[in-house]
Formats: sequence, C-alpha cells, structure tokens
Amino acid sequence: MRSNLVSALFLGLTASINLPPVAAVHTMIPKTSFDSQSDFDADWNYLYPWGSDHNGGARMTKSKINISGGVLTLTASPASGEKPASGGKSIPIHYLSGTIHAKEHFNVSRSGGYDFSAEFKASTTKGTWPAFWLTAVDGWPPEVDMAEWKGSGKVSFNTFNTSKEVEARDVKYESPREWHSFKTEVRDENGRDLAIRFFMDGKEVVRQVGKGFLGKPMWLIIDLQMEGSSGSPGPKDDTLFQVRNLEVLSYNL
Ligand SMILES: *[C@@H]1O[C@H](CO)[C@@H](O)[C@H](O)[C@H]1NC(C)=O
Ligand SMILES: *[C@@H]1O[C@H](CO)[C@@H](O)[C@H](O)[C@H]1NC(C)=O
Ligand SMILES: *[C@@H]1O[C@H](CO)[C@@H](O)[C@H](O)[C@H]1NC(C)=O
Repeated sequence: MRSNLVSALFLGLTASINLPPVAAVHTMIPKTSFDSQSDFDADWNYLYPWGSDHNGGARMTKSKINISGGVLTLTASPASGEKPASGGKSIPIHYLSGTIHAKEHFNVSRSGGYDFSAEFKASTTKGTWPAFWLTAVDGWPPEVDMAEWKGSGKVSFNTFNTSKEVEARDVKYESPREWHSFKTEVRDENGRDLAIRFFMDGKEVVRQVGKGFLGKPMWLIIDLQMEGSSGSPGPKDDTLFQVRNLEVLSYNL
C-alpha cells in the first residue's frame, strides 16, 4: 500500500516535471589571473576606468601593484607633495596606492547572471578603505559593493538604486589578518531588476535587489582607497590589500 502510493506519487511527479533548460556557464575571469603578468594582462587594467583618483586620500599608481604566486597585493604608502584630487570637491592626497579593473564589462541580460568570487586579506583599520565592487560604465547607478571595508572593524554589502535609495548591510569582520572568502551571485530577477546574493566564508549574508540594473554594463574594480569614507587620518605605515582565487563566471540560459 505504502510503496504503491510512493510509486504512484513518483510517477505523477516525473510526468508533470518539465526539466528547466541547463544554464550555460562561461568563465569570464579564470582563477589563474594573478598567476603571472601575462595572465594578469589578459583580464585586468591598472587604475580606475576613469583614472587615478576616486573619493578618497589615495592616488593610484601601477607601481603599488604586485602579482606573485597567484596573489594580488595592493599597497598603500604615505606620500607627501601630491596635488589634491580634483573632480567634484578637492580632496587632499596622503597616499599612493593600487587599483585594478577588469577589461570586460559585466552586463546581465535576460535569464542571465554572474558569480563573482575571491578571497581577501583586508584591513579594517581607521583610514583604510579596500573594496571589491561593481559600478556603472554609463552614468550611475548601478553600483554593487560586493565587499567594502570602511575602517570600522566591519565589512559592508551595498546596492544603490539611487544615491538615497540604498540597501546596506554591515557585519562584524573577524580576523582581518586571515583569508576570508566572498561570493556575490547576481541574477536576472524579473527582466528588469537584478537579485544580488552576498556570501561570506560560505554563508549567505544578505540578498538585495538592484532596480533596473539588467542590461546596464558594469565595471569590476578592486581598489585600496584610503581615508574618505573610512575616516582620517589613516595609518602612518603601509597598508596591504591581498586577493587570491578570484573567479568570475557568467550564466545564461
Ligand atoms: C612582488 O612580491 C614578491 C613577493 O613578496 C617579491 O618577491 C617581488 O619582488 C615583488 N615584485 C615587485 C615588482 O615588487
Ligand atoms: C531597490 O529597488 C528594488 C526593485 O524595485 C527594491 O526591491 C528594493 O527594495 C529597492 N531598494 C531600496 C533600498 O529601496
Ligand atoms: C547590455 O545588455 C542589454 C540587454 O541585455 C543590451 O541591450 C545592451 O546593448 C548591452 N549593452 C552593452 C554596452 O553591451
């Protein structure tokens, strides 16, 4: 009786299930992109897409970037005599540091998405502002902060619908000297918005929704800004931001 019922249910189920189409997974940036200079050059450019400065007290330069043994190291060092950052308000520059951005743009199309994953050693000291983030190629937003440390002992996960409409989640960041893994899954939600799920050390932290982000190309940036949103003054000695096992996969049905 029982086994008949089970098999009847099983048959009923299999008859009614239409298997979903299998997603095509494509590697946009392989885990080997920090293995050598030529691997790096295939996927990354130096600086921000718009240049050397952005909203903080560090000016970016290629000389502050090291790739060795599969690890990217960005170093921020105190510097004097630099001209203030221009663009908007003038910001004093107290550091030289490193930033890279992916050569590819990330543009989610219908039924598509991306997984961005990497491991980081990131400082949470006052005045240090490392980040792993996506920002609009044309205008602004979209912006998705996949991991942003603002000098407060926490890590932030943010999605900007507008400058005022922001979903922001801050969580305590333990053991900053250890590697921590991060993954952000970005997916078409409804043909218009993107569902964004943030994971840290294998656990989902928060799910946010980006309004109208579908079909809007984004830059992927890894930067070690200083001061700005992380407070000032920043440290008097060098600060490191390290990254390994970075991978970007795209999904399309
Ligand atoms: C990069 O770091 C490695 C390991 O610390 C070091 O051996 C190498 O000299 C550095 N390269 C540059 C260009 O600074
Ligand atoms: C952003 O827009 C999405 C889609 O409309 C919405 O679900 C989300 O709550 C919005 N975020 C904020 C902070 O209002
Ligand atoms: C981004 O994707 C949308 C729709 O998926 C497409 O219409 C648009 O042309 C793409 N933009 C770029 C710059 O590739």
